[in-house]
Amino acid sequence: MTPNRPNSPYSLTRFLIEEERAGHIRPDLRLLIEVVTRACKRISIEVGKGALGGVLGDAGTPGQASINVQGEAQKKLDVIANDVLMEANAWGGHLAGLASEEMDHSVPIQDLSPDGWPAGNYLLLFDPLDGSSNIDVNISVGTIFSVLRCPEGVTKPADEHYLQPGTEQLVAGYCTYGPNTTLVLTIGHGTHAFTLDREIGSFTLTTRGMRIPEETQEFAVNMSNQRHWQPPMQAYVADLLAGKTGPRGKDFNMRWVASMVADVHRLLTRGGIFSYPLDAKCEAKGGKLRLMYEANPMAMLVEQAGGAASTGRQRMLEVTPTGLHQRVPVFLGSRNEVEAAVRYHHDFD
Ligand code: AHG
Ligand code: MN
Ligand code: MN
Ligand code: MN
Repeated sequence: MTPNRPNSPYSLTRFLIEEERAGHIRPDLRLLIEVVTRACKRISIEVGKGALGGVLGDAGTPGQASINVQGEAQKKLDVIANDVLMEANAWGGHLAGLASEEMDHSVPIQDLSPDGWPAGNYLLLFDPLDGSSNIDVNISVGTIFSVLRCPEGVTKPADEHYLQPGTEQLVAGYCTYGPNTTLVLTIGHGTHAFTLDREIGSFTLTTRGMRIPEETQEFAVNMSNQRHWQPPMQAYVADLLAGKTGPRGKDFNMRWVASMVADVHRLLTRGGIFSYPLDAKCEAKGGKLRLMYEANPMAMLVEQAGGAASTGRQRMLEVTPTGLHQRVPVFLGSRNEVEAAVRYHHDFD
């Protein structure tokens, strides 16, 4: 046997077992990651069916899409992905409860288990399908997830038990369903990418220790909201657009997929800043993106890759959550660029 020959595939399973041996992860948490990523493979298959699988379009009745707790029209794949993650995690014994962007409240595992499935030590949060407005046009979407510890002595966790700052996350990850399916994962020891080998059905380590360049000349934002932004964001982006002869002294390029997973995957691969600032449309809700399902997992992944993540005024991972579906402004990516965006916010305080 030649276990380390150059082209020998290094599977997610092997990676996790070696992390366990290094004392970075407990066995029950390792098995939980295996369950979640297995569910992602299943979602990848459903997404890949497209029109052939009847999975495109709105959920609900014809002409009347169902509306989720976020006030958004649900796509069929939002519901399918949520069901896949629920079903996969219900009986594993690793979770005390789970919470999703698509569900009004968190669900204790005990409530899913009339036959008494055992409750485990962890809480799972997920955005089952991110970027769902892109599903019908065959652009990358993804799943975002994070794991918290269930507080000591709690066997039937309620929403309040999930309200822990992002610094408490034990695991964060996302899976992108694009030209290929890639899992990006952190257990607090770097951020690593695994590509799904469709022929053997297994995630294979393809980048160990992703690093985000500190400097960038690329930004991602929905420019159509420009007129609704607050003064710090107006000033920041005006200076980016001013280019070489402006105060920033360099030209910037812009890219916006409108799937956070895809936009973040790009900056984890080659640098950049992603932002979803406060604007007049989302101000009353506190922002557009969700702290628990989107901002915090991405913030941990980005920090573990040497980048930074902020609300514009505070480190993202230190925000004390007040609600399961809480929204926040988001700036994350290349460290120096996030710090620049934060300076514009402080200048207006
Ligand atoms: P979701 O599909 O999970 O509701 O999230 C969509 C989010 C995020 O993926 C993306 O960055 C943003 O909404 C897109 O917003 P715009 O509609 O302003 O482009
Ligand atoms: Mn949504
Ligand atoms: Mn999302
Ligand atoms: Mn979603």
